[in-house]
Amino acid sequence: MDTPVPTGHCSSGQPSPCELQAKMKQRLGRIKRKILVMSGKGGVGKSSTAVNLALTLAQDGYAVGLLDIDLHGPSVPKMLGLGNQQLQNGADGLLPVEYLSNLKVISVGFLLGDEDEALIWRGPAKTALIQQFLRDVQWDELDFLIVDCPPGTGDEPMTAVQTLLGDDQNSGAVIVTTPQEVALLDVQKSVTFCRRLEMPVLGIIENMSGFACPKCGEVIDIFKSGGGEQIAHRMHAPFLGKIPMDTAMVMAGDSGKPYMATQAETETGETYRRIAAALMNPTTK
Ligand SMILES: Nc1ncnc2c1ncn2[C@@H]1O[C@H](COP(=O)(O)OP(=O)(O)OP(=O)(O)O)[C@@H](O)[C@H]1O
Ligand SMILES: [Mg+2]
Repeated sequence: MDTPVPTGHCSSGQPSPCELQAKMKQRLGRIKRKILVMSGKGGVGKSSTAVNLALTLAQDGYAVGLLDIDLHGPSVPKMLGLGNQQLQNGADGLLPVEYLSNLKVISVGFLLGDEDEALIWRGPAKTALIQQFLRDVQWDELDFLIVDCPPGTGDEPMTAVQTLLGDDQNSGAVIVTTPQEVALLDVQKSVTFCRRLEMPVLGIIENMSGFACPKCGEVIDIFKSGGGEQIAHRMHAPFLGKIPMDTAMVMAGDSGKPYMATQAETETGETYRRIAAALMNPTTK
């Protein structure tokens, strides 16, 4: 694939930059709150967090969009069991894929033919695609748009932050980490990235925080525990909560049935609800 998804046409054939900007403003103006889920390191649980928070908010009755901007490793379609869906054009732009009537999803995974296909794009093309996802998708009115980012502070989160901040101040970042020291160093980079770009930090989540033995119930701190809370304190950022390691989380991700669809009544489910509640009334720093 070497061209971004097609946009709508204006009278001159090609929309002018002003028209594109106006369209972006109009689209983003219909989304009350935009939340980026980021991390400095890969594999710490951003996509799991994004999927489960989006679902928790939808279960609370909010209109939610979930945008997967991990262009090289989109996981959201698989995690939601939407792996074989394709994007369709609607009257006013691309239609997001419906997971629930109040939870709509967009991912580059819906543009790739099969799971093994890879996107081989440089920065400008990636920027254009993310802007198209924000401008040309018919999201309609949303209470929340949750954006699942790839790891690090590269083109994708940079484009998302700059595009969303161009709109208003109702945006913020949630930073996911695991508790061990090397992952925590990367949290500082993510917080610094947000602060340099003036993106409010809504808080830090410590994922894979301790493991409850399924046989005896004893909690083992495989990667230590509490580091996320300490770093939040040190970086003057809100701490949102700890999610333990849970084999059910792995199975949920692999089976396409998200944790909050099947395990909402657990202690971890309660933690996701508390975090979602904090995102409804954020104290940003
Ligand atoms: N709390 C948890 N307990 C057990 N397994 C988890 C937990 N959170 C995530 N996982 C598993 O860890 C793996 C990585 O999670 P996930 O894909 O959400 O991370 P990521 O940060 O989005 O990764 P990437 O940087 O590659 O995008 C997945 O197999 C997922 O099911
Ligand atoms: Mg991911």
